[in-house]
Amino acid sequence: MSGDWWKSETAYQIWPKSFMDASGDGIGDLKGITSKLDYLHDLGIGILWISPFYPSPLVDEGYDISDYYSIDPRFGTMADFEELLTEASKRDIHVITDIVVNHCSDQHEWFRKACEDPDGPYGRFFYIEDWDGEHLPCNLRSEFGGPVWEPLPGHPDKVYLHFFDKTQPDLNWENPDLRAEIYKMMNWWLDKGVSGFRMDAIINIKKVLPFHDYPADRDDGLASVSAMLKEQTGIDQFFREMKEQVFDQHDTFTVGEIFDARPEELAAFIGTDNGCFSSMFDFSGEVFGKSELGWYRSKAYLSAEEYKSCIFGAQRSVREIGRLSNIIENHDEPRGVSRYLPQDAWGCHSDDAKKALAGTYMLLRGVPFIYQGQELGTENVDIPSIEKVSDVWTLDQYRTAQEAGLSDEEALAAVAPFSRDNARVPMRWDDSENGGFTDGTPWTPLRSAPAFNVADEEENPDSVLNFYRQLIRLRSNEEYWDVLSNGEFLAYEENQKNLISYFRWNGVCTLLVMANFQAECQNVELPDENKAYEIIMTNGKPLHIFGNTVTLLGWQFAVLQER
Ligand code: GLC
Repeated sequence: MSGDWWKSETAYQIWPKSFMDASGDGIGDLKGITSKLDYLHDLGIGILWISPFYPSPLVDEGYDISDYYSIDPRFGTMADFEELLTEASKRDIHVITDIVVNHCSDQHEWFRKACEDPDGPYGRFFYIEDWDGEHLPCNLRSEFGGPVWEPLPGHPDKVYLHFFDKTQPDLNWENPDLRAEIYKMMNWWLDKGVSGFRMDAIINIKKVLPFHDYPADRDDGLASVSAMLKEQTGIDQFFREMKEQVFDQHDTFTVGEIFDARPEELAAFIGTDNGCFSSMFDFSGEVFGKSELGWYRSKAYLSAEEYKSCIFGAQRSVREIGRLSNIIENHDEPRGVSRYLPQDAWGCHSDDAKKALAGTYMLLRGVPFIYQGQELGTENVDIPSIEKVSDVWTLDQYRTAQEAGLSDEEALAAVAPFSRDNARVPMRWDDSENGGFTDGTPWTPLRSAPAFNVADEEENPDSVLNFYRQLIRLRSNEEYWDVLSNGEFLAYEENQKNLISYFRWNGVCTLLVMANFQAECQNVELPDENKAYEIIMTNGKPLHIFGNTVTLLGWQFAVLQER
């Protein structure tokens, strides 16, 4: 029953711990979010994804949930959440929440009961296997390091499965009782008024059974979970059931966190007619150049040509199927301007370059997501030492780099560009010491450059923030919303180096988007010399068109309309 309301919206992701602290305890909270809804409304946001705020030991910063039906007191109360929903709705903002159901926390009562009685009903909520003290059921490696198996507390002859941290036991989706509990919980949140979900690690819910070993991909003798995902079949049955039990009963927007999808599965995942989810994130740029060996062997940033091949390939892969949610960053990834702007190019940190990247990804087909602070042009932070890092994933990747022979200094330099800490520092609302984020002591130092703050950028008409506002207004403009939300994507002059250009057209209107991903000028021939091209927007400097040739200045971005 998923309607069309979300197709022309722009979404914004909040990582609550670092967005805005209203209580003064140094930790962001729900009341803080409510206090900033006017800011989000002025920006033009229609969908708000809030990362987990449920009770949690915060080992994985809230992605380890110990109670699916409550609010962590650090973030507020259920009344605060209801107030947030009411105030968001007054501003036409739809709130979606994070559904983390591949695993829960080891502090969840289901897991505690499973430890008390592994053969009882809650034991069957998890993957618990017998263990001879030597041979594990399979050699998969957890995402955060080490084997995916851990001895079950109180039962030295048993192990349980965890694809992420050992405090995040995987839920057994083969068990219909577990699935019924999850659907009940999802419906409960929808009945409360949330408009949909971001589905965390949802591709992992289907395991290949019985467990077996895979060829090792590192010296530790273990294999990445991706090896299992390549063999996985049957997840579409879970998705179909979830759709019937949950999404068909409500008018939702849902977005899947789905890596490793195979082309033949896309229709079941995001197909316009019968797909389970409204969309899934395009992670093609995120995974580009990542090595099985770890971050220390991965590419830290992409050239313009690499970035173009990622986004164009992704657009084509879903063309006749459905829609993607387009991102350049999120709470798991470095800042987009530090990864997708070629960092060896002169001017890659200029506002013009940041705006060119923003325009390029925001006008692709699909739903654009903005991660908090991205709209300010915020860059990766300085990570001075590993002692300052709290993220479990970064710590594991640092160890991996050391084990591969890198010195401490080299290991830090290798993991810093990927660290999740880059995006998880508090938001800067003004240029004061604590950035207007808190009246107390921030839970972690701000570290981002003070220049990227909301108050200053609001005053500057040429700021990156105001350019994002223009882009969002363009997406909702009466004349362009249909072509930008429903129109086709078609690459233009794809082989021209450092040019990223494409059409959006719907049979009535044709827009030509072009961005020069280099400091030097470059000429672009217009597609049809018999047509006139009207300039709809640029990222600042005036655009020069002589006859049939556009001269793009360094890092220039433009949208033209064919007349
Ligand atoms: C997802 C989340 C990430 C988390 C992981 C385990 O990938 O985005 O932050 O660590 O799932 O829940």
